Amino acid sequence: MPFTPLPEIFIADLSRTGSSEVLELGSGDGAFTAVLRDQGVEPVTVDRGPAAAGIRARIRGDAMAPPLRGRFRVVVVANLLRHVWREIGGPGPGIWRDLVAPGGCLWVFEDEPLSKPPAARNYRDLQGLLARLDPSGRGPLLAHRRFEILRRSWNWSGSWTSGGEANAWSVAADGVAEWLAAGVTDVGGEVDRLASAIGSDGLSYGRYWWARWQTEDEA
Ligand SMILES: C[S@@+](CC[C@H](N)C(=O)[O-])C[C@H]1O[C@@H](n2cnc3c(N)ncnc32)[C@H](O)[C@@H]1O
Repeated sequence: MPFTPLPEIFIADLSRTGSSEVLELGSGDGAFTAVLRDQGVEPVTVDRGPAAAGIRARIRGDAMAPPLRGRFRVVVVANLLRHVWREIGGPGPGIWRDLVAPGGCLWVFEDEPLSKPPAARNYRDLQGLLARLDPSGRGPLLAHRRFEILRRSWNWSGSWTSGGEANAWSVAADGVAEWLAAGVTDVGGEVDRLASAIGSDGLSYGRYWWARWQTEDEA
């Protein structure tokens, strides 16, 4: 899902790249790819899902073992880490680090589950429900503070910076409520409760967080 507004430092990183120097892993239906295009880049995109499921990636493959050679000035993983962090071992996703060119950076974006407004809690609960319905393919939202603990254990050289913003991108709450009402298997009344909470409080992304890892090498 797009993150609005984008961090200024991310926009600056993109502006320093050539179009083919950006890689987006787990690009899905291309919503964030469109944001990257708006910034003037045409990323190489990778996703494991099939086109029949609405996936618009140029390359079909696993983000944990992408079928790629070469390195990129900017590697982006947006709303991907939440799905894969449990399968990543102690040293972290070394393949992501290795895909970054000297002087380049890795960007991680995730929705923040600790956002307080009821509409954002509904979004967190929706993602939790989806993860329980499809535990092998999806994960619940990953909190920034949990990520900080994780990435410290990765022990990568180079430097990390991070931040967060309120995400102004709007969610199609009506479509989600209809989809919930249309036949998602209810688990102990959870679907009904969530549909009703969305009906009364709405649905919003709340805050998002980002983390940027920069190689220690010069370009
Ligand atoms: C929530 S979507 C995010 C899409 C896009 N990055 C965005 O923010 O608009 C997560 C995507 O990650 C993909 N994905 C999850 N695990 C993956 C893996 N191991 N390899 C490649 N793609 C993966 C899913 O197929 C899905 O399209």
